[in-house]
Amino acid sequence: MDSVLGIVGGSGLYDLPGLHNARWERIDSAWGEVSDDILFAEIDGLPIRFLPRHGLAPSEINYRANIDALKRTGVTDLVSFSACGSLDERLAPGHFVLVDQFIDQTRDRPRSFFGNGCVAHVSMAEPVSPTLAGYVQQALEREAVAHTRGGTYVVIEGPQFSSRAESLLYRSWGCHVIGMTNMPEARLAREAELSYTTVAMVTDYDCWRENHAAVDVESVLAVMKDNTSRAQVVIQGLAAVFPRRHPPCSVGSDRALEGAIVTPPGH
Ligand code: ADE
Repeated sequence: MDSVLGIVGGSGLYDLPGLHNARWERIDSAWGEVSDDILFAEIDGLPIRFLPRHGLAPSEINYRANIDALKRTGVTDLVSFSACGSLDERLAPGHFVLVDQFIDQTRDRPRSFFGNGCVAHVSMAEPVSPTLAGYVQQALEREAVAHTRGGTYVVIEGPQFSSRAESLLYRSWGCHVIGMTNMPEARLAREAELSYTTVAMVTDYDCWRENHAAVDVESVLAVMKDNTSRAQVVIQGLAAVFPRRHPPCSVGSDRALEGAIVTPPGH
């Protein structure tokens, strides 16, 4: 199968040089409103699909429609870029983290394509494809972007930031970063048999740090612009290193439904 690289992220990510045959297309989904039109383009012959998720509160994003629309455009591998707070002293604003685990604290978001008479339980033991993350890491190294491989991302419902007690609790759980966007995206990508990884781009230290101002929108925005520029460089690096044939996922993300559907045949 040929690789088609999907990218989801905030605004500005797709505004980068080297894009060929670029066109925006509206993709309909039976699951509802997709966040935006999808940008179809190529970099060095690698087909890329960009889906911006800007302009919507994290709870308002229709994650099922987004993943379904990306799947319909042929995406095999999906890289999600998102701003996050740091729960670890060593992960300073501007640092990128290739997280490999999630703790889902969201409360109010449809999280499965299944149900209504079709029962399936995919594995989420390894929510990120190490194969895909390995290529993103190569791109980060190639472009000399400061990063850490591995980490746990706690996803909160928002839209408010956490209380200090919550922030300290998540630290005690061993979480490294905190954000509002990657669940149920990761769950749905797995159900759609997409290889998935997240680049968590640190913008702030949330509110756990003593003698340090708590996160606010201004502090997030101050770092976001630079993070976006570096994310663009990473996307270009990724296009350079990514195999043109879809690399089979070492934890089986791309065949996640094999053996996962429990509804009897003909049900
Ligand atoms: N996005 C960026 N910083 C964040 C934080 N501290 N908490 C939740 N989401 C964020």
